[in-house]
Amino acid sequence: MAGNWKMYKTQAETRAFFSAFLPLVSDATNCDIVVAPPFTSIAAAVEAAKGSNVAISAQNNHWQRDGAYTGEISVGMLAEAGCRYVIVGHSERRQYSNETDDIVAQKSRAVLSAGLTPIVCLGESFTERETNRTEEVLAQQFIGGPGALTGEEFSRILLAYEPVWAIGTGRTATPEIAAAAHRFLRRCVQDQFSAEASASVRILYGGSVKPDNIQGLMAQPELDGALVGGASLDPKSFVTIVKAA
Ligand code: 13P
Repeated sequence: MAGNWKMYKTQAETRAFFSAFLPLVSDATNCDIVVAPPFTSIAAAVEAAKGSNVAISAQNNHWQRDGAYTGEISVGMLAEAGCRYVIVGHSERRQYSNETDDIVAQKSRAVLSAGLTPIVCLGESFTERETNRTEEVLAQQFIGGPGALTGEEFSRILLAYEPVWAIGTGRTATPEIAAAAHRFLRRCVQDQFSAEASASVRILYGGSVKPDNIQGLMAQPELDGALVGGASLDPKSFVTIVKAA
């Protein structure tokens, strides 16, 4: 169960979140819990979560180890800061920063090379779903992105299905729609890698996950967890979501 804070929470707000959140999830041992603060709050989050059952993720990375890339952050820096995961290929980065499937593959490789776990996002837009292109788009994003990794690399990543029309809109995918997309992605994994890879890859669902819809989503065996935006900002609502795992 992962929370993506996007461009929210200062360091002080991060510390306040963890003071409230950690005692409430200390007994949640049946799932991995991940929080992805913005870069400047990573150190505060790592410090606050030290020794707890919550791991810290970054929201982005550069694909090169180092170099003249003004404003960018390398995976080595994220590993040193204490991150264990990085969200790669979020639709907001694809949309606003022109991230392509190839960049998603390169960033994923960089994350793995630093020993961290990429959470690789894919998902169709509203228009793509309305014009019956969902599977075509997912297959394309898969093949050009996580599907371009080696089998060994792929065994160390997580996938997140995030339909763009459900992100920040309050329009969650129904559990059935989410499950169908996850099944399709598993077929892509099987075609590209193996039945074993398809069965073992963990796929999170993201898009308007809230305390009042998490039960229905998690009741689908195809869903292995959730990538939560807005509802992960409030400790109580994120606890409710985590406990639904
Ligand atoms: P919301 O939960 O706010 O819709 O955001 C989902 C998301 O983009 C998580 O990465």
